[in-house]
Amino acid sequence: MPAAVPPELDVALRGALEETGAVGATVRQLASRIDHRREWVERALASLSLRGDVLRIGRGLYVLRAFEHLSDRVDFVDPAAYVERFSRENGISLGEYAGPITFRANEALPIHRWWPYVQGYSAEFVRGIVSTAGLPHGAAILDPFAGSGTTLVEARRAGARALGTELLAPAVLAARVKTRFELNASALRDTARQVLARARRRAVGPLPFLRETRRQFDPVALEDLTRLRDALPAAGTPVGDALRLAFGRILIPSSRLHRSPCLGYDRRRRGPEGSPFERFLAATEAMAEDLGQLELERPRWGPASRVVEGDARDVRWPAGSVALAITSPPYVNGMDYVMNYKVDLAWLGYARSYADLAALRRAEVACDNLPRSETAAYLGVSGSGDPWLDEILSRIRENVARKRSYRRDDVHAVVRRYFADLAAALVRVRDALAPDGRFVLVVGDSLLAGAYVPGDLLTARLGATVGLEIVSVEVARARRSGQRRSFVLRESVVTLRRPRSGGAHAKR
Ligand SMILES: C[S@@+](CC[C@H](N)C(=O)[O-])C[C@H]1O[C@@H](n2cnc3c(N)ncnc32)[C@H](O)[C@@H]1O
Repeated sequence: MPAAVPPELDVALRGALEETGAVGATVRQLASRIDHRREWVERALASLSLRGDVLRIGRGLYVLRAFEHLSDRVDFVDPAAYVERFSRENGISLGEYAGPITFRANEALPIHRWWPYVQGYSAEFVRGIVSTAGLPHGAAILDPFAGSGTTLVEARRAGARALGTELLAPAVLAARVKTRFELNASALRDTARQVLARARRRAVGPLPFLRETRRQFDPVALEDLTRLRDALPAAGTPVGDALRLAFGRILIPSSRLHRSPCLGYDRRRRGPEGSPFERFLAATEAMAEDLGQLELERPRWGPASRVVEGDARDVRWPAGSVALAITSPPYVNGMDYVMNYKVDLAWLGYARSYADLAALRRAEVACDNLPRSETAAYLGVSGSGDPWLDEILSRIRENVARKRSYRRDDVHAVVRRYFADLAAALVRVRDALAPDGRFVLVVGDSLLAGAYVPGDLLTARLGATVGLEIVSVEVARARRSGQRRSFVLRESVVTLRRPRSGGAHAKR
């Protein structure tokens, strides 16, 4: 029979869980907090769970039963309260957006399938927005966080001039190649075969700098990938770039990794089927096929696209030149894109060291992995420019202080910096938009350190702060919180508009 849990441990654990409140704590955190061995803490938690006094809420976090429903807590402001407050303060009720929004639908679509990008949105969504806008041929459509180029592909197909800014070079490569509709399919096929023939004859090449490369790949696939990489033509030509994209596209499927959506080891998969060479050939064949289909739409194509590799906070587009902007920015405390695409960055030679990755991370819109040095200027919880945000920041700071062992104690500063980053990018779009031009954003909300952050509503309000008008906020889908599986989050379509006159340049 297992030894009984000493009553003093029971009391200490309840006390610790009372303090960590809605944020919850892991076994390791609790053990260090009450200075007890982990096995004992685990045993005590199991018995408290059996009695129904303690619950596991996801990601190994435990809370007291009293913290089961966040909405019951007096210190918790729930989504409904923000929706009500938003409609009261702005005179706008949340609508509904019907139609597919996630990238998944793109995975089988010509061109979009060239580089699956989990964080992207659906081509159909972009098509709907573009067709509703009814723009003349050649009008400019901008995506300031272009990702893999979903907006840009659909913009050009619809006759627009597609413009984009994107920080990560592999995504820039994808967006550029996918919007170079003139790419010659037979030249692509022929060169792909030559590359494969060269790769088969080549000696094994050096590994990229990532320390875990050998763990990420099976040894034979690893050797083939170095040979394939070293046989690729130089970057900078349409076919050379397209083949590099095909190579980038097969990296994760040829590895022991997956993105779901974060990069991690795929424990269910025993090893990828097929060799990198076969995958590369299949990828280039699919590209050539899609180009054939695209050719039929040639009379409708818009002018050549332009994708700038850079920081959306800084890149300026000519004032008033953009008719419509569509994007999905990173979400509050969401993905670290640099971490998620480090394999692509390293293998394609865009990052050559950890210092290169760190430099990119400083430029990306703030996420949970932002270096501490970058949050120093954002530690205050008032004066953010939005009283809603000020309230949320202090709630996050209090919750984290209460928990003591949270992953980082400057989470509120990361959130504050996130909105400062977003504001800077919104200003660039505002200035680029023509009067009456719309800016459509797909944005999610978050649950963070036990506090609810209405990312969509805060983004709409931020738009208003920089002089754009809020047109609508439409809920597109429900999502689950990673922190608390039972908590339902949403993803919304926020539409802003540059006023016809005044306003736009008044602020920031
Ligand atoms: C949600 S994704 C956009 C996905 C895109 N809509 C699609 O369908 O492929 C957000 C993008 O913002 C990029 N990003 C993050 N920080 C950035 C910055 N400071 N400047 C420009 N792009 C940035 C990320 O690399 C990522 O590709």
